[in-house]
Parts: sequence; structure tokens; C-alpha cells
Amino acid sequence: MATGMPKTFYLETFGCQMNVHDSEKVIGTLVQQGYAQVQSEEAADLILYNTCSIRDKAEQKVFNRLNDTKKLLKQGKRFGVLGCVAQQEGERIFERAPYVSLVSGSASYRKLPEMLVQLEAGRGRITGLDDRQTDETFVTEFTARSNPHRGYITIVEGCDKFCAYCVVPYTRGKERSRTSSSVLLEARQMAEAGFSEIQLLGQNVNSYRDPEGKRTFAELLAAVGEIGGVRRVRFTTSHPRDFTREIVDAIDAVPTLCDHVHLPVQSGSSHVLALMAREYTREWYLERIGWIKAARREISMTTDIIVGFPGETEQDFEDTLTMLAEVGYDAVFAFKYSPRPNTPAITRADSIGEEEKSARLQILLEQQRDQQRVSYERHLGQTLEVMVEGQTNARGQITGRTSQNKTLNFTTSQPIRPAAGSYLPVRVTAAFPNSLVGEAL
Ligand code: 5AD
Ligand code: SF4
Repeated sequence: MATGMPKTFYLETFGCQMNVHDSEKVIGTLVQQGYAQVQSEEAADLILYNTCSIRDKAEQKVFNRLNDTKKLLKQGKRFGVLGCVAQQEGERIFERAPYVSLVSGSASYRKLPEMLVQLEAGRGRITGLDDRQTDETFVTEFTARSNPHRGYITIVEGCDKFCAYCVVPYTRGKERSRTSSSVLLEARQMAEAGFSEIQLLGQNVNSYRDPEGKRTFAELLAAVGEIGGVRRVRFTTSHPRDFTREIVDAIDAVPTLCDHVHLPVQSGSSHVLALMAREYTREWYLERIGWIKAARREISMTTDIIVGFPGETEQDFEDTLTMLAEVGYDAVFAFKYSPRPNTPAITRADSIGEEEKSARLQILLEQQRDQQRVSYERHLGQTLEVMVEGQTNARGQITGRTSQNKTLNFTTSQPIRPAAGSYLPVRVTAAFPNSLVGEAL
């Protein structure tokens, strides 16, 4: 540091909800250590990027960003790289970007206070990279939640699934769960603080194993849903291998559990699923979908797809298209396969050309859009409860979100706008492939 200690910080987050929530915990930790958060790199002594390496594009974004910001260095700023790129690239980051002083993966965030002390002492090349085999989780009472109504709780960190394409087991480390008592304590405190929506997070949230042995994942879900003041409980992301009928039963039994399941299938072809080491077949997955469809409540389903995995034939891709048609998802997040460092699939030739991947992605997204264009119409005339999100769009509509996690933009005849975080019944008057429109009752 040129002048004194770094006392202001800027933090930017890339990647998934786990990263977003990790950042809330990192911010809380820094504030607790006497730092003040600022909203621009220019105003900050310490610039932090919490990074994602799920696909090459996400990773490149961070290095571009570091390059762009480098010019600020002459003003004596310090840089830290956190998260998945930090863990994946490790000390190589110091070679690629010598002005970086701190590199830490998420499994080492518990040690941030110590790392900050070293940073303040003027040391460079501080690392938190050796904790991937830890059993410890990162829990702090200082979490700086950015939304006052909807809050995240990490219940599982890391991942032991080792899907052939995926960096997460290497970047987030071994799978470890928090005790259900500590999760419930945090959820109760959040409910008391006014949070009405709680989202339980984990890379494989439903492979949750209570270290105390008190509750299954479904029992934990139900217990969070029964806390006074909690109106909505969501969970993400579920792995089909760990998806139990008990989860469907819990959603049926506890009205505060949202009627939505995100269940990434990745491919509709058993051949590709085997290559991906997903450990299930198309039929096995569809059996779980059958449980969800047999529920008393209408449970909305969404998924993730990878197109162009090495070895994916035309027929395999067709199988994915028929899978989407058969399940009838309400949203599909589809990605072109991107070879990732350290993963088993990196040894297979990235055999499907970029053009072919793009063509398959395009076909899939168009089919899905056509399907949603029709399926969202099932809500016409229904009255759905929304949680008010706050913003008003260009048409003067207020944005709300349904329990099924759909955007429902609505108008109201009331002179006073409903407050963000409030709940209202809204009658659906129009349907689009990705959103609904309605009138508040
Ligand atoms: N290439 C493309 N997509 C990937 N995903 C994970 N790894 C890769 C990869 N190497 C997708 C999966 C996962 C989502 C979060 O990102 O669909 O469910
Ligand atoms: Fe990105 Fe995966 Fe890391 Fe989330 S866990 S930040 S999606 S690489």
C-alpha cells in the first residue's frame, strides 16, 4: 500500500447464486474487520472479484476485467481474486496478473480475517487454496444480505459428484453439510429480521446429509417452511441422483414450500448421460418427473442442458429434444459444452464443432420457446399470489414473482403502489413464453 491500510473495498460477483451468497458473507466479514464497501473500483483501496469458471467464457471475463482495471493500480490499489477461477488457477494468477495480492477459493473464506491481516501488513501473494478437503463450512453471523425480503442460506458446500464436464468438485472442494440445527437457527433469525422468502443453496442441495443425523433434506425443507413469518422456501440446485419422493411429499404437505423444482437433466440421451458420468438414465430421470407430475399441487419444473458434449450424435440430440417435449419444462437453461481444466472430459476431443453446437442450441431454444408460448397460457384467468419485486417496467407494470418462480408483471387500480416484498393476489390476463401479465385484485 502506498498510503496507509486498505480500508475501503469494492467487490464484484460473477457466476451462480452460491457465489452471490458467498459474496454477501465475504462483505459481512470485511465490514466486521473494519472495511467499508464502496460502489466503484475508483473509490476502493481493495478491489475483489468473486469469480466463476463454469465455462471458458465466464473465466475469460475475469481476466479481461483484471486487465481493464489494472490501470487503477498506479493509485496504490490492491487486487484480490476469489472464487472458482482463484481456486482453479491458484498461484498461476500471480504470473498472469502480478499486481494481484490475494487469491482465495471459497473453501478458505473462513480464513479471510487472517488473510486480511497479512494484506494490511503489506504482504503480497497471499493465498487461501489448501482447504478443498476440509469438513468445515463458512458460516458467519455478519452476512450482508442485499435483499431485505429474500435471503439465501448455504446448507451444503462443495460437490462429490464429479460429472465429467464440471469444475465444481475441483473449485469448491469436497461436499460438506451444515447441521440442520444451525440452518434452522439462521432461518429463524432471518424470519425475525423480516425475511419472508428463504432459499436453501448447495451445488447439490438435495444431497444434504445432516452431520447431526437429525433431519433428511426433505425434513429440513419442511422445518424451514414451518417457521413463523416464512412464506416461501426455495432450494437450488437439485441433482436427480438424490431426488427423493419425500421431497415431492414435503411440497405437497407444506404450502410455504414453493411449487417449483429445478432438476438439471443435462441430456435426454442415456448414452450421453453415461459419458457425462451422471449416474442415471433417461428412464430413471423420467421416473422422478413422474413423481413430480403425480403431486397434488402443480409443480413447475425447470432444467439445465448441455449441448455438444463430446460424442453427442444427431440421435442423442434428438433424444434431448423429445425429453424437453415429454417433461414440459417451464424454463430451460441451455449451454454449449465448454471443455474445462482438470475435468475428466478434457481428455476427450471436443468433437462437435462450434457451428454445430450453436445450431443445436438454437434448435433447442426455439423448440422450448414454442412450447412455453403454449404452456404459459395455462395460467390465463388464474389468480396467483406474487411477491412484489419492486421495479416498474416501461409499460408502468410492477414486477412480481409467483411461487412457481415465474415473472408476473401487473397493474393495480390502487393509488398507492404495493411495497417491495409484499404479497398480493394477481389475476393473469396475458401470457408470453417467459412471463405473465395481470391485474392486482
Ligand atoms: N460446459 C457447458 N456447460 C456446463 N455446465 C456445467 N459445466 C459445463 C461445461 N463444462 C452447465 C450445466 C450446469 C450449469 C450450472 O452449467 O448445465 O447444470
Ligand atoms: Fe461458477 Fe460453478 Fe463456481 Fe458457481 S460453483 S461460481 S457456477 S464455477
